[in-house]
Amino acid sequence: MGSTSATAHGLKRPLIFLGPPGAGKGTQAKELARHFGVPHLSTGDMFREHVERDTELGRRARPIMERGELVPDEIVLGMVEERISRPDCAAGFVFDGFPRTIPQAERLGAILAGRGFAAPLVLYVDVDYEKLFRRLAGRRTCKVGGEIYNIYDRPPRVPDRCDHDGGELIQRPDDREEVIRERLAAYETQTRPLVDYYRAKSLLREVDGSPDAAAVTRTLLDLVKRDS
Ligand code: AP5
Repeated sequence: MGSTSATAHGLKRPLIFLGPPGAGKGTQAKELARHFGVPHLSTGDMFREHVERDTELGRRARPIMERGELVPDEIVLGMVEERISRPDCAAGFVFDGFPRTIPQAERLGAILAGRGFAAPLVLYVDVDYEKLFRRLAGRRTCKVGGEIYNIYDRPPRVPDRCDHDGGELIQRPDDREEVIRERLAAYETQTRPLVDYYRAKSLLREVDGSPDAAAVTRTLLDLVKRDS
Protein backbone atom coordinates (compact mmCIF):
# COMPACT_ATOMS: atom_id res chain seq x y z
CA MET A 1 0.00 0.00 0.00
CA GLY A 2 1.10 3.58 -0.64
CA SER A 3 1.22 6.29 1.95
CA THR A 4 0.08 9.89 2.04
CA SER A 5 2.75 10.83 4.58
CA ALA A 6 5.66 13.03 3.55
CA THR A 7 9.01 11.54 2.55
CA ALA A 8 12.18 12.70 4.32
CA HIS A 9 12.26 15.76 2.04
CA GLY A 10 8.53 16.43 2.20
CA LEU A 11 6.90 15.05 -0.95
CA LYS A 12 3.27 14.56 0.04
CA ARG A 13 1.79 13.46 -3.25
CA PRO A 14 2.88 11.87 -6.51
CA LEU A 15 4.18 14.26 -9.16
CA ILE A 16 3.31 14.08 -12.84
CA PHE A 17 5.38 15.83 -15.53
CA LEU A 18 3.26 16.83 -18.49
CA GLY A 19 4.44 18.67 -21.60
CA PRO A 20 5.52 18.29 -25.22
CA PRO A 21 8.48 16.15 -26.34
CA GLY A 22 11.70 17.99 -25.48
CA ALA A 23 10.16 20.34 -22.90
CA GLY A 24 12.58 19.01 -20.28
CA LYS A 25 10.27 16.58 -18.45
CA GLY A 26 12.96 13.91 -18.09
CA THR A 27 15.66 16.38 -17.06
CA GLN A 28 13.46 17.92 -14.36
CA ALA A 29 11.72 14.74 -13.23
CA LYS A 30 15.11 13.14 -12.49
CA GLU A 31 16.17 16.20 -10.44
CA LEU A 32 12.98 16.28 -8.39
CA ALA A 33 12.98 12.52 -7.84
CA ARG A 34 16.59 12.78 -6.57
CA HIS A 35 15.70 15.70 -4.35
CA PHE A 36 12.71 13.97 -2.77
CA GLY A 37 14.34 10.53 -2.65
CA VAL A 38 11.62 8.77 -4.64
CA PRO A 39 11.73 6.80 -7.93
CA HIS A 40 11.65 8.54 -11.30
CA LEU A 41 9.14 6.65 -13.43
CA SER A 42 9.52 7.41 -17.13
CA THR A 43 7.27 5.26 -19.32
CA GLY A 44 9.48 6.18 -22.29
CA ASP A 45 12.57 4.85 -20.45
CA MET A 46 10.67 1.70 -19.45
CA PHE A 47 9.74 1.03 -23.08
CA ARG A 48 13.29 1.73 -24.27
CA GLU A 49 14.56 -0.79 -21.71
CA HIS A 50 12.12 -3.40 -23.03
CA VAL A 51 13.24 -2.65 -26.60
CA GLU A 52 16.89 -2.98 -25.56
CA ARG A 53 16.21 -6.33 -23.83
CA ASP A 54 14.10 -7.45 -26.80
CA THR A 55 11.19 -8.55 -24.61
CA GLU A 56 7.75 -9.29 -26.07
CA LEU A 57 6.55 -5.90 -24.83
CA GLY A 58 9.61 -4.28 -26.41
CA ARG A 59 8.90 -5.94 -29.77
CA ARG A 60 5.34 -4.55 -29.69
CA ALA A 61 6.39 -1.05 -28.63
CA ARG A 62 9.39 -0.62 -30.90
CA PRO A 63 7.70 0.04 -34.28
CA ILE A 64 5.13 2.29 -32.62
CA MET A 65 7.84 4.38 -30.97
CA GLU A 66 9.85 4.51 -34.18
CA ARG A 67 6.83 6.03 -35.92
CA GLY A 68 6.42 8.58 -33.12
CA GLU A 69 2.98 7.28 -32.15
CA LEU A 70 1.67 6.41 -28.68
CA VAL A 71 1.79 2.85 -27.36
CA PRO A 72 -1.76 1.53 -26.66
CA ASP A 73 -3.19 2.46 -23.27
CA GLU A 74 -3.63 -1.09 -21.96
CA ILE A 75 0.08 -1.87 -22.47
CA VAL A 76 1.18 1.33 -20.74
CA LEU A 77 -1.24 0.89 -17.85
CA GLY A 78 -0.27 -2.72 -17.17
CA MET A 79 3.40 -1.74 -17.04
CA VAL A 80 2.80 1.27 -14.76
CA GLU A 81 0.51 -0.58 -12.38
CA GLU A 82 3.09 -3.33 -11.91
CA ARG A 83 5.85 -0.75 -11.35
CA ILE A 84 4.09 1.30 -8.68
CA SER A 85 3.14 -1.82 -6.75
CA ARG A 86 6.85 -2.35 -5.92
CA PRO A 87 8.04 -1.43 -2.41
CA ASP A 88 10.29 1.44 -3.55
CA CYS A 89 7.17 3.35 -4.65
CA ALA A 90 5.50 3.23 -1.25
CA ALA A 91 6.56 6.77 -0.30
CA GLY A 92 5.70 8.34 -3.66
CA PHE A 93 7.18 8.76 -7.15
CA VAL A 94 7.62 11.15 -10.03
CA PHE A 95 5.94 10.28 -13.33
CA ASP A 96 7.56 11.47 -16.54
CA GLY A 97 5.59 11.11 -19.78
CA PHE A 98 2.67 9.37 -18.10
CA PRO A 99 -0.28 9.71 -18.28
CA ARG A 100 -0.52 10.77 -21.90
CA THR A 101 -4.17 10.18 -22.80
CA ILE A 102 -7.44 10.84 -20.98
CA PRO A 103 -8.10 7.08 -20.41
CA GLN A 104 -4.58 6.74 -18.90
CA ALA A 105 -5.29 9.70 -16.57
CA GLU A 106 -8.67 8.31 -15.52
CA ARG A 107 -7.24 4.89 -14.77
CA LEU A 108 -4.29 6.40 -12.90
CA GLY A 109 -6.68 8.38 -10.70
CA ALA A 110 -8.42 5.15 -9.71
CA ILE A 111 -5.13 3.29 -9.12
CA LEU A 112 -3.72 6.05 -6.90
CA ALA A 113 -6.91 6.33 -4.87
CA GLY A 114 -7.05 2.52 -4.53
CA ARG A 115 -3.49 2.49 -3.16
CA GLY A 116 -4.10 5.31 -0.66
CA PHE A 117 -2.10 8.03 -2.40
CA ALA A 118 -3.17 11.65 -2.42
CA ALA A 119 -4.26 13.24 -5.72
CA PRO A 120 -1.19 13.96 -7.89
CA LEU A 121 0.34 17.36 -8.54
CA VAL A 122 0.68 17.88 -12.30
CA LEU A 123 3.63 19.99 -13.43
CA TYR A 124 2.93 21.23 -16.94
CA VAL A 125 6.19 22.33 -18.56
CA ASP A 126 5.75 24.21 -21.82
CA VAL A 127 8.30 25.45 -24.37
CA ASP A 128 7.80 26.88 -27.88
CA TYR A 129 8.19 24.57 -30.87
CA GLU A 130 11.35 26.14 -32.27
CA LYS A 131 13.21 25.44 -29.02
CA LEU A 132 11.79 21.92 -28.80
CA PHE A 133 13.32 20.98 -32.14
CA ARG A 134 16.75 22.28 -31.15
CA ARG A 135 16.59 20.46 -27.82
CA LEU A 136 15.55 17.14 -29.35
CA ALA A 137 18.07 17.32 -32.20
CA GLY A 138 20.87 18.08 -29.71
CA ARG A 139 19.87 15.56 -27.04
CA ARG A 140 22.29 12.80 -26.05
CA THR A 141 21.52 10.22 -23.35
CA CYS A 142 23.89 8.12 -21.28
CA LYS A 143 23.60 4.46 -22.24
CA VAL A 144 24.48 3.39 -18.69
CA GLY A 145 22.62 5.67 -16.25
CA GLY A 146 20.22 7.54 -18.55
CA GLU A 147 21.60 11.00 -17.69
CA ILE A 148 20.39 13.57 -20.25
CA TYR A 149 22.70 16.04 -22.07
CA ASN A 150 22.44 18.46 -24.93
CA ILE A 151 25.32 19.14 -27.30
CA TYR A 152 24.21 22.79 -27.60
CA ASP A 153 22.94 23.72 -24.14
CA ARG A 154 24.06 21.05 -21.63
CA PRO A 155 27.22 19.48 -23.08
CA PRO A 156 29.13 16.79 -21.16
CA ARG A 157 32.60 17.73 -19.91
CA VAL A 158 34.16 15.10 -22.21
CA PRO A 159 32.47 14.73 -25.64
CA ASP A 160 30.21 11.65 -25.93
CA ARG A 161 30.91 10.55 -22.31
CA CYS A 162 28.66 10.86 -19.27
CA ASP A 163 29.98 13.15 -16.50
CA HIS A 164 28.63 10.79 -13.82
CA ASP A 165 29.66 7.30 -14.91
CA GLY A 166 31.68 7.74 -18.12
CA GLY A 167 28.98 5.86 -20.09
CA GLU A 168 28.64 6.30 -23.85
CA LEU A 169 26.21 9.05 -24.91
CA ILE A 170 23.78 8.03 -27.63
CA GLN A 171 21.12 9.71 -29.77
CA ARG A 172 17.57 8.36 -29.53
CA PRO A 173 16.24 6.89 -32.80
CA ASP A 174 13.01 8.89 -32.41
CA ASP A 175 14.92 12.19 -32.37
CA ARG A 176 15.01 12.29 -36.20
CA GLU A 177 13.16 15.28 -37.66
CA GLU A 178 10.30 13.35 -39.32
CA VAL A 179 9.66 11.34 -36.13
CA ILE A 180 9.80 14.49 -33.99
CA ARG A 181 6.98 15.93 -36.14
CA GLU A 182 4.85 12.82 -35.54
CA ARG A 183 5.52 12.93 -31.80
CA LEU A 184 4.47 16.57 -31.67
CA ALA A 185 1.29 15.74 -33.62
CA ALA A 186 0.49 12.88 -31.21
CA TYR A 187 1.08 15.26 -28.32
CA GLU A 188 -1.31 17.86 -29.73
CA THR A 189 -4.17 15.46 -30.39
CA GLN A 190 -3.87 12.93 -27.56
CA THR A 191 -1.89 14.50 -24.71
CA ARG A 192 -2.58 18.24 -24.71
CA PRO A 193 -6.24 17.62 -23.69
CA LEU A 194 -4.83 16.52 -20.30
CA VAL A 195 -3.95 20.15 -19.58
CA ASP A 196 -7.64 21.06 -19.42
CA TYR A 197 -8.49 17.74 -17.71
CA TYR A 198 -6.14 18.40 -14.79
CA ARG A 199 -6.76 22.15 -14.75
CA ALA A 200 -10.47 21.48 -14.22
CA LYS A 201 -9.53 19.38 -11.17
CA SER A 202 -7.26 22.19 -9.85
CA LEU A 203 -4.29 19.80 -9.93
CA LEU A 204 -2.29 21.58 -12.66
CA ARG A 205 0.62 23.99 -12.17
CA GLU A 206 2.10 25.60 -15.26
CA VAL A 207 5.84 26.28 -15.56
CA ASP A 208 7.78 28.01 -18.33
CA GLY A 209 10.39 25.48 -19.45
CA SER A 210 12.44 27.92 -21.57
CA PRO A 211 14.93 29.25 -18.99
CA ASP A 212 18.06 27.20 -18.30
CA ALA A 213 17.53 23.84 -16.61
CA ALA A 214 18.78 24.95 -13.15
CA ALA A 215 16.38 27.90 -13.13
CA VAL A 216 13.46 25.66 -14.11
CA THR A 217 14.40 23.23 -11.30
CA ARG A 218 14.34 26.07 -8.74
CA THR A 219 10.90 27.20 -9.92
CA LEU A 220 9.57 23.64 -9.75
CA LEU A 221 10.96 22.97 -6.29
CA ASP A 222 9.45 26.21 -4.94
CA LEU A 223 6.14 25.28 -6.45
CA VAL A 224 6.10 21.71 -5.13
CA LYS A 225 7.19 22.78 -1.64
CA ARG A 226 4.48 25.46 -1.54
CA ASP A 227 1.94 22.88 -2.57
CA SER A 228 3.01 20.15 -0.16
P1 AP5 B 1 9.23 9.73 -23.94
O1 AP5 B 1 10.53 9.11 -23.67
O2 AP5 B 1 8.33 10.03 -22.81
O3 AP5 B 1 9.48 11.00 -24.84
P2 AP5 B 1 8.76 12.43 -24.92
O4 AP5 B 1 7.54 12.66 -24.13
O5 AP5 B 1 8.63 12.64 -26.38
O6 AP5 B 1 9.67 13.35 -24.19
P3 AP5 B 1 11.18 13.45 -24.38
O7 AP5 B 1 11.87 12.39 -23.56
O8 AP5 B 1 11.55 13.50 -25.83
O9 AP5 B 1 11.47 14.91 -23.85
P4 AP5 B 1 11.55 15.47 -22.38
O10 AP5 B 1 10.45 16.46 -22.17
O11 AP5 B 1 11.72 14.40 -21.36
O12 AP5 B 1 12.88 16.33 -22.51
P5 AP5 B 1 14.36 16.04 -21.95
O13 AP5 B 1 14.41 16.31 -20.50
O14 AP5 B 1 14.90 14.76 -22.46
O15 AP5 B 1 8.38 8.79 -24.93
C1 AP5 B 1 8.97 8.18 -26.06
C2 AP5 B 1 7.93 7.30 -26.74
O16 AP5 B 1 7.49 6.25 -25.85
C3 AP5 B 1 6.63 8.01 -27.14
O17 AP5 B 1 6.75 8.65 -28.39
C4 AP5 B 1 5.63 6.82 -27.15
O18 AP5 B 1 5.75 6.06 -28.33
C5 AP5 B 1 6.10 5.97 -26.00
N1 AP5 B 1 5.41 6.33 -24.73
C6 AP5 B 1 6.02 6.78 -23.59
N2 AP5 B 1 5.11 7.00 -22.63
C7 AP5 B 1 3.91 6.68 -23.16
C8 AP5 B 1 2.58 6.73 -22.64
N3 AP5 B 1 2.33 7.15 -21.39
N4 AP5 B 1 1.57 6.35 -23.46
C9 AP5 B 1 1.81 5.92 -24.72
N5 AP5 B 1 3.05 5.86 -25.26
C10 AP5 B 1 4.09 6.24 -24.49
O19 AP5 B 1 15.12 17.25 -22.67
C11 AP5 B 1 15.28 17.30 -24.08
C12 AP5 B 1 16.63 17.97 -24.40
O20 AP5 B 1 16.57 19.33 -23.98
C13 AP5 B 1 17.83 17.35 -23.67
O21 AP5 B 1 18.93 17.36 -24.53
C14 AP5 B 1 18.06 18.27 -22.47
O22 AP5 B 1 19.41 18.29 -22.06
C15 AP5 B 1 17.61 19.60 -23.03
N6 AP5 B 1 17.04 20.48 -22.01
C16 AP5 B 1 16.14 20.12 -21.05
N7 AP5 B 1 15.80 21.19 -20.32
C17 AP5 B 1 16.48 22.25 -20.83
C18 AP5 B 1 16.54 23.63 -20.51
N8 AP5 B 1 15.80 24.16 -19.53
N9 AP5 B 1 17.33 24.42 -21.26
C19 AP5 B 1 18.05 23.91 -22.29
N10 AP5 B 1 18.06 22.61 -22.64
C20 AP5 B 1 17.27 21.79 -21.91
